Parts: sequence; structure tokens; C-alpha cells
Amino acid sequence: MNKKWWKEAVAYQVYPRSFNDSNNDGIGDLQGVIEKLDYIEALGIDIIWLSPMYQSPNDDNGYDISDYQAIMSEFGTMDDFDQLLEGIHQRGMKLILDLVVNHTSDEHPWFIESKSNKNNPKRDWYIWQDPKEDGSEPNNWESIFNGSTWEYDAQTEQYYFHLFSKKQPDLNWSNPDVREAIYKMMNWWFEKGIDGFRVDAITHIKKTFEAGDLPVPEGKTYAPAFDVDMNQPGIQTWLQEMKDKSLSKYDIMTVGEANGVTPNNAEAWVGDEKGKFNMIFQFEHLGLWNTGDVQFDVRAYKAVLNAWQNNLDDIGWNALFIENHDQPRRVSTWGDDKNFWYESATSHALVYFLQKGTPFIYQGQEIGMTNYPFKNIETFNDVAVVNEYNIVKDQHGDVNALLEKHKMENRDNSRTPMQWDDSSFAGFSKHEPWFPVNPNYRKINVAAQQQNPNSILNFYKSMIQVKKTHDILTYGSFTLVDEENERVFAYLREFNDERMLIVGNLTDQTATLNLPETFIFSSNCVLLHNYNDRIIHVNELRPYEAFIVTL
Ligand code: NOJ
Repeated sequence: MNKKWWKEAVAYQVYPRSFNDSNNDGIGDLQGVIEKLDYIEALGIDIIWLSPMYQSPNDDNGYDISDYQAIMSEFGTMDDFDQLLEGIHQRGMKLILDLVVNHTSDEHPWFIESKSNKNNPKRDWYIWQDPKEDGSEPNNWESIFNGSTWEYDAQTEQYYFHLFSKKQPDLNWSNPDVREAIYKMMNWWFEKGIDGFRVDAITHIKKTFEAGDLPVPEGKTYAPAFDVDMNQPGIQTWLQEMKDKSLSKYDIMTVGEANGVTPNNAEAWVGDEKGKFNMIFQFEHLGLWNTGDVQFDVRAYKAVLNAWQNNLDDIGWNALFIENHDQPRRVSTWGDDKNFWYESATSHALVYFLQKGTPFIYQGQEIGMTNYPFKNIETFNDVAVVNEYNIVKDQHGDVNALLEKHKMENRDNSRTPMQWDDSSFAGFSKHEPWFPVNPNYRKINVAAQQQNPNSILNFYKSMIQVKKTHDILTYGSFTLVDEENERVFAYLREFNDERMLIVGNLTDQTATLNLPETFIFSSNCVLLHNYNDRIIHVNELRPYEAFIVTL
């Protein structure tokens, strides 16, 4: 067993724009994060992942960086950053930053130079191609944020490539100078003392342009290009170089954002020996909501996570998560925020959190923050939705249908300001925030839950303590129990001669759990239970009932 600090840790993601506003301009900032470090520490957190706080024109809320070594002025200064890092370290916690190097902002000096003329030495730092003979885009690939991946530059008469928004041009990783510049910047942050990176969109750095035009689905103008722009052959060579020239020199941790990686090809990414990162955020469980007739497909969820647990067993390490700044709130989608708000938030929490891996919590998840009640399409801020809205409007399409599509699933749902208390603007700011506060803040907020021993917040605190005080929950093996059960997610953790059973009914129906006869426990063995009576009948689990017991 290979012990590591990051395997024993619990991580918390801060999206600084929406976390806490110290100077009351309506935008969260670094001093705001500093004010809440005691809160994060008291929750039991070891690692803070801070979403981008670099200089940025904010086309994609900081994921479009114009200076990797400066702080966004809305968020503060480099002195504030240093103070934050110190405050985190003083409390025995670690800080990981977002490393966004698939692309920069179009306002980054590298791109400004690159765009200035075809002979500029930085021209080849980005991906430029000539138009087709008819003047159209070099190929028909679709941007992840809708529309074409290509943007025409009239001055130099070429197109540049952008997988995300047109203000996020992709860096040309084939160019060794680009790679060197990236490693140099990473090492600069490591020397400053940060403890690692969450590595943004890293599976996209290599593209197979030789594939040319792709089939366009009916009703669309451009072709989805994931098969040719994600986890492409050859990518590991660059990642190995990044490991050799930067990551392996420091005692840090990394978690790659890894759309397109499957349990079968994960070893090259996170294997103890061969891996380039310590863990990855895989995407396979994210789309299991609202498929076919089911609201949430419990069996499919189990199948996906079971494959990750089994395939990485003894080979590598998992990052465990159900929410982040790109996902809707789970209590509103996978759970039931109307009838079983507390029960479904805690049941989903227990089930993902105590698997083998490092668990991540996204700000607000620990108090059961819910989706935002969008009423009109103009409320959306997310650049992906705004792009799609403009396309649909230009084509005189149905914008109301678009609203319906995005209401429940779009990224803004998780980006509403953190709900600290029941004062105006939820204690996030004294000024009207950049994005509206969820109107339910008077009921759902940190202050109220701190007072209530049976709150979601206190459940999270207890769960984190249980995890951190039992090695079995870090290093023990994972085995699904009653695998075919359509409602209940149950698994066993085993370590030396210890055994723990974790159970969550993930539906609003009662459910029967079939346990082997040797699984015997009494109420004394219950470490955590989301129904207060502490009475467990496995033959008749209540809606979203969840517990952990020692066997
Ligand atoms: C993934 C990030 O999580 C997302 O928020 C961002 O828009 C894209 N990468 C582009 O950087």
C-alpha cells in the first residue's frame, strides 16, 4: 500500500467569483476567501482547489487567461494571493490552483503577437490554418461552446482554432517553445509554494486535424469532434514531458480534468508507475440523469463507478466528485430538492464520498444548495448558453425550448453566490452580486445549518470526520454489494480484518437491500445515518435512507 498525503485528504473547490465578496462590489475575491478559511478548516478540509484567479477578461469566468502570473484585478492583488496561501498553510491545509493551458485568452500577449502578422515568431504558438478554397472554415468541427471551432482573422486571412469560445484560442502544443513556456510558468507557481494543480481540459491538448471534415448530425451546422480532439494518440508523450520537466520535481498533487478517459485507458493517466497525474476527474457518471424513462439511473451509476474502482485498484487513484462549477446542483437533478432535500443530499453524499479515492466537495454542496429557478433566457451568464442563444435567435429558432433545455442542466446553476446567512444577498456581499442569489437563501444557508445538529452541513462534517479517522475508508478495498439492486447503492470496504458497509437508497421509494447472511450489525455499529431514529430495516429502507456501519 502506497501511502500519500493526498490519498488521505478531503478537498474543497472554491469558485472565487461566487464565494465571498470582501469589498462589496458584488464579485467574490481573494480576501473574501481568506475571511472564510476558518469555516473551511472547521469543515475538516485538507486541500482547497481554487478555480482561476488569474488576470482575465472573463469571457469564461477566468478560464480565459490573459496573464498566468498576475491576479485578476476584481479578485485582488498578488499580495492578497500570498496572504491566502500563507493562511491556508498556517492552518495545515494545501492549495491547488487551476492550470488552464489548452488555451489562453485572445487578450494574452502571446496571442496578440501571434495574431499581429504571419511572420511573427509567436504565429505558430496557436493553431492557424488557411480557409478552404471557397473561403469557409478549414474544417467543420463544432466548438464545445457551440458554433464553429474556427474564427476568421481578416487582417492575416487565416482562421485560428478555438475548442471553447472564440476568446479562448487553443495553444499549439506541437510547438516545443509553447510547452517550455508552460512548464516554466508552472514551476514559477511551484516555487511560490502552491501544492498542486487541477489541470483544465487537459485531454484536449492534442487534435487529429488529419481527420478533416466529419459527419454533421441532422439539424446541425457543425460536427461534434470529440473523437478527434480528445485523448488522442500521442498525448502521453507531452504529458510525460510535463511530468519530467515540472510535476515530478515537487511534492505536489495533480488532478486532471479528463473527459474521454475510460477505466480501460486510465493507467497511462493515473497509474502509480505510468501515470502523469495523481488522479483525474472522469466524466462518465455525469450524464446519467434524465436518460430514457428514469430520472436517475442507479444501476448505470453503480456500473460506471464500480468499473473505476475495480480498474484502478492497486494501479492508481480515483478523484471522487458529484458537483463542480460546470455541473448543475445534484440535489436538484439526481436527488429531490422538493420532497427529500435533506435525505437525498446526504444519501448521494455518503455514497460517492466513502469510495476509494480523494473526495472533492464543491462550495455550497455541503449545505445542499439547489439549482437556480431560471425564468427567462436572459438570466444566463454562461458563455456556452449565450453562444447557443445567439445562434438560435439568428436562425429564428425556439428560444423558449432553449430555456427549458438549460434550466436544469446548465453551468450557471452552480455559480450562484454562496449562501452564508439570511441577510440580504445571503451574506455574500452588501452589493447586488454579479449573478443573482438563489431566492431560497433564507432557508438554505450556512448560519442556519451551523445551529442545527441535523443539517446537511453537520452531516458533511461528521462524514468527513468518519472518513479521516478510519484508515479503512482511505486504503481499504471496495466491493459492490447487491449489485443488481435498482434503488440502492451499497458497498463494502475491507482492510486487514475490518469491514464497513456503506448504503444509500438513491430513490424516493422504499427499497429492499439483500445482504449476505454474514453481514451482521446492531444499532451500536452505526457510524452515521441520515434518519434520526437510528433504526435500520434493510428490508424496508426509507426514501434516500443512507448509513455506514461496521460489520
Ligand atoms: C473546463 C472548465 O471546468 C470550464 O469551466 C471551462 O469553461 C472549460 N474547461 C474551458 O476552460
